[in-house]
Formats: sequence, structure tokens, C-alpha cells
Amino acid sequence: MQSQLFKKDFITTEDWTNEELESMLELAADLKRRFIIGEPHDHILRARTLYMLFFEESTRTRNSFEAGMTQLGGHAHWLTPKATQIGHGEAPKDTAMVLSRYGHGIALRDCRTGIGQAYQYELARWASIPVFSMQDDVDHPCQTMADLMTIREKFGPAPSTGSGQALRGRKFVISWTYAPQYVRPLSVPQGLIMLMTRFGMDVTLAHPAGFHMMPQALEAARQHAAENGASFEVIDDMDAACAGADIVYAKSWGPIMVTEDEAEVKKMSDEHKHWCLDERRMALAKKSAIYMHCMPIDRGYEAADAVIDGPQSAIYDEAENRLHIQKALMALTMAPRG
Ligand code: CP
Repeated sequence: MQSQLFKKDFITTEDWTNEELESMLELAADLKRRFIIGEPHDHILRARTLYMLFFEESTRTRNSFEAGMTQLGGHAHWLTPKATQIGHGEAPKDTAMVLSRYGHGIALRDCRTGIGQAYQYELARWASIPVFSMQDDVDHPCQTMADLMTIREKFGPAPSTGSGQALRGRKFVISWTYAPQYVRPLSVPQGLIMLMTRFGMDVTLAHPAGFHMMPQALEAARQHAAENGASFEVIDDMDAACAGADIVYAKSWGPIMVTEDEAEVKKMSDEHKHWCLDERRMALAKKSAIYMHCMPIDRGYEAADAVIDGPQSAIYDEAENRLHIQKALMALTMAPRG
């Protein structure tokens, strides 16, 4: 267990070592156990404050962070640009300096392409308290860590037994799917290819032409795969991706590297309506495979109800683990050592 994480920012998993990420997984498992058996742990962040600043909507992220702070004995403030002077253009420096005088952590969701992660690093430059990403244009690190925790629970190894031998050789698929609704950011697929390659999995990214990732995420995935005896491939065939998979993570994202214009996005997406994880495609994966999605899901478009609600679905486990992983993150970075 790493003990030097007090005040460390968590803007992307790329900024944490494998050993540091293991510490988060290990503590998350312990906090989950305590939560399940009703063992109090509200002394850990007693009277501490987290500022949660949302540029976009949220169900899971807001409520898991807020509930997590309550369970650890602290309090979380829900903020938006409009509810603060950020909406009037207050500089990140001034926001960071002032909130650092009041509380103990700042969490931010800002998915604006080319802006979101840069804004987080700018806040972190001036904040004397840790800054956490609650999703940006590049990564969604709390989501991908909750996903990794879920995969470890399903396939092993137990936390504290080392980094991922049991995951070595597992086929992890992240596939684009069609969805008619709003344009989703690249942060989840990018975060997944960057993280899962570090933990020994053979990662396949599948998407139609035009729905590619940022070059920095692709490069990180290739490098991590090479360093960790894993593999990373990009293909344009959803059936081939699902074949023999251990984990099928099927979700939509926008062709953001090409366009964010809604009409153009719709035109590009509508050409690939058949990219849906139905029962036939799920059956191409191993019998022991699990289906994952970060939620919210566009039911009937991204995946069939039979898959979403079927026995291989791990979606609610992933959502649950957001709570435990974020509590571990906050405990490691916001609680001074006793
Ligand atoms: N998965 C996720 O981040 O969900 P929300 O957008 O509801 O927070």
C-alpha cells in the first residue's frame, strides 16, 4: 500500500504508477467490505469538504462522490459554472486559490474537447488541495478504475496479490456502438485502452472509420501493451472484436476527431446503425464473458435489453464500484496521516 498519496491529483490514470493504482484498488476493496457489513468509517474524512464542479450532467458521478463523502464523514458541495463566478469568467487560478483556503479537494467534470483536461491541470497548478477528474475530454479515470476493480472481482486476482497476472491474456474489447442521442466524449474508450493495457489484458478497440481516438491515447495504449506483455489492436469489425472476448465493453462515442457538428455526427452515425451488441454478438464472446458499459445506456441501440439485463451483464457492479473506488481515492489523497 502506497502511503505517499496525500494531496496527489488524479486527473488521469497516466499520472499514477501501477503501484499507486494498486493502492487505490486495495483500499476500495476494504472500504467496500466495511460498507457492506455496516462498519463505520466516517472518521476518515470527518469535517472535510470536497468541491464538485460539473460543466455537464451526471447521475453516477455526482451521487457516488457525494454519498462517498458523507460515508467518510465529510461533505461535498455540488457546483456548476452558473452557480459560481466561473460562469462570469473567473480565472481558474482564482477559483483554485480560494477553494483551497476553504476545503480539502476539488473534483471537476469538463468534457469540452481540447479544453477540459487542460482546465483541470490549470486548476491543479494553483490549488494546494488535490484535484480529481470526474471526466474530461481525454480520460474518465474514476470510471476506468471502477471498471478495473469490477474486472478483478470477476476474473481475479484479489487486491493486494499483485498486478494482474490473472488478467494476462484476457481479451478486453471496447467497441463503438450506434446511439441516436447526444454526442458522447472519447474519454471512456480512451481511458480504457490506456488503463487495461497496463494490467496485462489484450485490448481490441473496434469502431467504424471516423470514430478514432486522440493520437496521445493510442500511443499510450501501444506503449503500455509493449511494456506489459499485452497487445493492442484497432479494427473496424464488431463481430471480429467480440469473437472469443472475455470482456465486451460496448458503448457509443462521437466522431469527435472529425466533427462535433450535430448534423454531421448524425449522418456519420446513421451509417452504422447495425453496430449494436445484440444476443448474437454477445454469443460470439466466451461463455464466461462479461458485458460492460459505464452508463447511461441507450437501450435497444447500444445493446439489446436481453444483453443489458442478461446474466453476463456487469453494468450495475461497475456503477456500484464507482462509490468504493472514489472513496479510496479521497481517503488516500484528502486524509492526512494520523
Ligand atoms: N458513467 C458516468 O460517469 O455516469 P454519469 O454521467 O451519470 O456520471
